[in-house]
Amino acid sequence: MVGTVRPSARPTDRPLSMHPDLASALSYVGVLIADPPPCIAVVLGSGLGGLADSLEGARRIPYADIPGFPKTTVAGHRGELVVGELEGTPVVLQNGRFHLYEGHDPDAVTLPVRLFAAHGAEILILTNAAGGLNPQFRPPTLMLLADHINLMWRNPLVGKRLSGEVRFPDLLDAYDRELRSIARDSAAECHVALVEGVYGSVPGPSFETPAEVRMLRRLGCDAVGMSTVPEALVARARGMRVLGISSITNAGAGLSKTPLSHEEVLEAGQRLAGDLEQVVRGVVRRLIADC
Ligand code: HPA
Repeated sequence: MVGTVRPSARPTDRPLSMHPDLASALSYVGVLIADPPPCIAVVLGSGLGGLADSLEGARRIPYADIPGFPKTTVAGHRGELVVGELEGTPVVLQNGRFHLYEGHDPDAVTLPVRLFAAHGAEILILTNAAGGLNPQFRPPTLMLLADHINLMWRNPLVGKRLSGEVRFPDLLDAYDRELRSIARDSAAECHVALVEGVYGSVPGPSFETPAEVRMLRRLGCDAVGMSTVPEALVARARGMRVLGISSITNAGAGLSKTPLSHEEVLEAGQRLAGDLEQVVRGVVRRLIADC
């Protein structure tokens, strides 16, 4: 047994309220995802939806059927929850995420994570596509999130504290140390290169300017992307343990000669999807004993 499912920031006081969208989504999805309850939730980033097709005994819940759920508007994000088994473990996948740049508010972006936590998921695996800033991280490659810098200037925990969340979550190990070590072991076992670094989150949707890329690098970011941090913040406030993996699909603006495009990001994401799936499967296998 390598990992333990151990909530590390349980709330200390009681509910003030539950978000109304969460309440309606909960009552609809409850029966569908609660049997057996998923211990692990995975959010699939741009072009990384392949895992959703390889789940055993998959049941699909289109977002359009879930009351209160937003719509995804981004190519490469399918718009469904998929419940099934991965390596024999009950999991729920979010196949298509919501981004601030689509005009969703932070509550909408993080609604699925609140839903997964409410159904007992204790581990959240966040995947995303990102631009590489560290010159040693040559795309396409996978990067384990060691930490983040929130440059979105939004925080989904602002406002009335929701039921089951701590007001001031500790972010010392926002990306769980033990899960990171498990991910490194998993990558080594399947001979997948996995670098580790700091993810800088920006609002998007425009890619960065070369000057912004230089600034982000100086700030200490190894990769830049437009997602993940809102979900990680809510997960930590709910006591979930978080693992974050970026598919570094391109070099940051100005670091290579070619202009950036979403198509390039999707294409490189798809090329990395097999490696990412192997690493995630290896992580889940190592956690099985605890679920
Ligand atoms: N910048 C921001 N987000 C991204 C990038 C990038 O270069 N690549 C993939 N997502």
